[in-house]
Amino acid sequence: MEIIRTKQRLADVVDDARRQGRSIGLVPTMGALHAGHRSLVERARKENDVVIVSVFVNPTQFNNPDDLRTYPRTEEADAAMLEACGVDYAFIPSVEEVYPEPDTRVFDLGPVAEVMEGAMRPGHFNGVAQIVSKLFALTKPTRAYFGEKDFQQIAVIRRMVELEGFDLEIVPCPIVREADGLALSSRNVRLSPEARAIAPKIHYILELSRDLKAAGKQAAEVQQATLDAINDVEGLEAEYYQIVDAATMQPISRWEDAGELGAAGCVTVFCGGVRLIDNIRY
Ligand code: PAJ
Repeated sequence: MEIIRTKQRLADVVDDARRQGRSIGLVPTMGALHAGHRSLVERARKENDVVIVSVFVNPTQFNNPDDLRTYPRTEEADAAMLEACGVDYAFIPSVEEVYPEPDTRVFDLGPVAEVMEGAMRPGHFNGVAQIVSKLFALTKPTRAYFGEKDFQQIAVIRRMVELEGFDLEIVPCPIVREADGLALSSRNVRLSPEARAIAPKIHYILELSRDLKAAGKQAAEVQQATLDAINDVEGLEAEYYQIVDAATMQPISRWEDAGELGAAGCVTVFCGGVRLIDNIRY
């Protein structure tokens, strides 16, 4: 595996691969890699001739400076994991290399980016669109892999792809969880032992909410009951729980209002001061 630090070197290897007609799989990450990331990388490895993984803590998507400052950075371990997965190129650039001047682009992301994470983290999705569009332009991937852990992010990236006219396939990948149900996240290392013990209840409560649907409860009722159940757990505080159309991200109150992708329930919960996100499909 080669570690690439510059856009120029990346452009050269991408051009070579393209000239040889080889497919390129891209996995964008912010590092502190775990088994969730690894599942994306392994899928990319199976489906493409060349695999590129980017590791870049993108400052423009952090609306909270403390979160950016304390974001875990584990480059050596990340490189070792990527090498073991058979990755061809790890693109690990500096901030100056990616943003030689400030990126002032404002993407017209529309309604998918206005709700939930978009409402709670102003500017976050515009920053995601900035970095992912740069990575797509640089790596010209055949396929790009994203985890359903960040469910709304996938919808936002699809919108950006449509706006920018990128010719590539977005491949959504299932959420990888700990044995007790907690969704893997780079931020989980910030959980105290007490918070770590409570955090799996988030997934547990979301699973129970499926039973409410099965018992005939409408989406609005399931939403309220789920929100209450989370907030009833000492140590959990929900920022939002929203049942949405899985394609448009728009809130629904009746199951029959969901389109062909069905409904998803998306949640953000504070657990011992750590902001965790998760979701479930109905
Ligand atoms: P990051 O949080 O590092 O996540 C990189 C990719 O791994 C995302 O597509 C995310 O959804 C996926 N992922 C994280 N945890 C997962 C899990 N438990 N199961 C499955 N997939 C999981 O998301 C970002 O970085 C950034 O916003 C990025 C897209 C790289 C742009 O900076």
